[in-house]
Amino acid sequence: MTERILKILYDNIGAFVSGEQIGNILSVSRVAVSKNIQILKNLGYPIISGTKNGHCLKELPDILDGMILSAITGKKTVFLPQCNSTNIIARELASSQDCELVAAAIQSDGRGRRGRNFSSEYGGIYFSYITGPALKPSQSMLINLAAGAAVFDVLAELGIEPFLKYPNDLYINGKKICGILTETLSDSDTLVWGVTGIGLNVNNELPQNLRDTATTLRKLTNKNYNLALLIQKILVKFDYFLSLKAEGIVTEYKKRCAMLRQGITIYNDDGTSYSAVAQDIDEFGHLRILRGEQSVLAVSGEVSLRLKKQ
Ligand code: BTN
Repeated sequence: MTERILKILYDNIGAFVSGEQIGNILSVSRVAVSKNIQILKNLGYPIISGTKNGHCLKELPDILDGMILSAITGKKTVFLPQCNSTNIIARELASSQDCELVAAAIQSDGRGRRGRNFSSEYGGIYFSYITGPALKPSQSMLINLAAGAAVFDVLAELGIEPFLKYPNDLYINGKKICGILTETLSDSDTLVWGVTGIGLNVNNELPQNLRDTATTLRKLTNKNYNLALLIQKILVKFDYFLSLKAEGIVTEYKKRCAMLRQGITIYNDDGTSYSAVAQDIDEFGHLRILRGEQSVLAVSGEVSLRLKKQ
């Protein structure tokens, strides 16, 4: 019940809601409401209460927990102060219908694409969003692209112009700020679930070995950010891009992906590499490249891409 009361207060942030109103919405007594309001106050939520006016959540506190994430995203959330990887947990919960969002404050085994590790210190954003079978298995790459476009827009709204590197990394001034990893389960013609993990460097310190190649929002702007609010903003945009379906997702992604028409180097898994030009993205979200005179698809998973000039 505490979580539902927080949601009512958040939906009316800055305004008073009477104990009676809250009680009526949730079909509980005013005493029960008061008890739960006290729990929220003890947890640090800035709520002011008056005998005449009721209760008012003054502002969004700088708290990251399951209650606040559920209240502001409207998603069924599992929050873990620490876990191995939110993608691993989300994959286990994906079929249960009881969870849409898994978030953690720290990951001990944050995973990146192609078996890489994703550093996940306290102060960053680490979450996995479970999506349903709206797309076909052949279109699963599009989920990744929708997530990339969503993070791109949230960063742009903060006044930061990111570079979206296909398929799903975001860089600022040549330093990585965000990585996205989508995993899917499909049967013959249905996407059973998609789990999209997003890791964004925000208020966290970077380990020494990443300081030349990665950056954080705090480093860039000298400010701290509310992590719960950033997750909420990303999810709103992610849902929006997913709602556009295949053609819309590709169109929006291409508008944001400055890598297109640029010279790139493609690194194969076997250590060989070759130069090409990033040409286009097809309706399945695959990258088409110009290799010499030939236009071919660079199928994700077999290649990694690096801009020549970076
Ligand atoms: C990459 O850079 O290759 C992708 C990184 C994806 C990291 C996120 S953090 C949340 C989720 N949990 C993980 O273990 N990985 C993703």
